[in-house]
Amino acid sequence: LGAPARAHRPRPRTTTAVTGIGTLVTNDPSLGAGPLGLVRDAAVVIEGGHIAWVGPSDRAPAADNRVDAQGRALLPGFVDSHSHLVFAGDRTEEFNARMSGRAYSAGGIRTTVAATRTASRNVLSDTVGRHVREAFRQGTTTIEIKSGYGLTVDDEARSLDIAAAHTDEVTYLGAHIVAPEFADRPEDYVALVTGPMLDACAPRARWIDVFCEQGAFDGDQARTILTAGAARGLVPRVHANQLSYGPGVRLAVELGAASADHCTHLTDEDVDALANGTTVATLLPGAEFSTRSPYPDARRLLDAGVTVALSPDCNPGSSYTSSMPFCVALAVREMGMTPDEAVWAATAGGAAALRRTDVGRVAPGARADLTLLDAPSHVHLAYRPGVPLVAAVWKDGVLGH
Ligand code: NIG
Ligand code: FE
Repeated sequence: LGAPARAHRPRPRTTTAVTGIGTLVTNDPSLGAGPLGLVRDAAVVIEGGHIAWVGPSDRAPAADNRVDAQGRALLPGFVDSHSHLVFAGDRTEEFNARMSGRAYSAGGIRTTVAATRTASRNVLSDTVGRHVREAFRQGTTTIEIKSGYGLTVDDEARSLDIAAAHTDEVTYLGAHIVAPEFADRPEDYVALVTGPMLDACAPRARWIDVFCEQGAFDGDQARTILTAGAARGLVPRVHANQLSYGPGVRLAVELGAASADHCTHLTDEDVDALANGTTVATLLPGAEFSTRSPYPDARRLLDAGVTVALSPDCNPGSSYTSSMPFCVALAVREMGMTPDEAVWAATAGGAAALRRTDVGRVAPGARADLTLLDAPSHVHLAYRPGVPLVAAVWKDGVLGH
């Protein structure tokens, strides 16, 4: 038998060997030491958009291209499971007022809603792209993006379309606050969010989120909205227990939400619910930093056996940072996490919060989403806060800037 005709052969994919990795974080305990699956003096082979091989550098197979990491650390690209990037305008004044003593409240969201509604699609899309690139330069290769500054059927649908041009992880957050037009009839707004707005948004999103908080939506309203979304195939995630104690976390666990986000004010019952459920606790320390609030107690959650993720919560109000390294440093310094736990939460934890197994780890078959640090170890992300340590980032096997 002769060789099959050339046209029928699969095209060989380019391979790249990254060798001389001082510390490789795989997040796969079968590949290396501890929960981070650490491998010293490692190499990784990328084939097309995926990881083909992981092992000791001196046993790396031949590849088309070779990159010498020169003893530096290589990590899975960060997985940011919580951002609000479809917005226009600026809330510098609100931030300034807070830094002079004013408290943060959900009401500031209205400022951004007004600006977002009047912005053009191009301006909004440019803003999203700019922030996605900003996050990428800091090592983030997967990012979830929420709507929530439109709050009309058309503005929410438009926000989701803009988000979808930049990510697969799109979240319908029509229930961010009650739209200003409905201020004196919130139940009519819930009917809109679960009716015509859901009709328009369900086909455009993977997830549904609700801001369950005083000044936003109470537990009953959140339940109604999340249940309606789930009936349309959207998977719940919840802004829960950010500014005060409340029903958000327990509701998230009860409904099997992928994630309960913020988790700043937790009772023992909330912690038990998370520990006994499947919902990831996503901690957003940029919000506490920028609102001068007490940080969530990550140690308490980890000691109870809860799966913890970290995200910057990039938005123009409560947390205008896209930097996962900044969050890792805050989580270690202020929230009782070890550097290993924080790096896991920023990679594998984010993947768990998005129910993804193809990202957040460096193992054969995973996506070749990788972050190379200008440092010998991942611990430097916390040890050297504020220093731009990200040297290179690969997304789907492509080296980007
Ligand atoms: O995650 N908490 C609600 N949503 C955002 C804040 C949005 C805003 O202030 O514009 C958050 O912190
Ligand atoms: Fe948020």
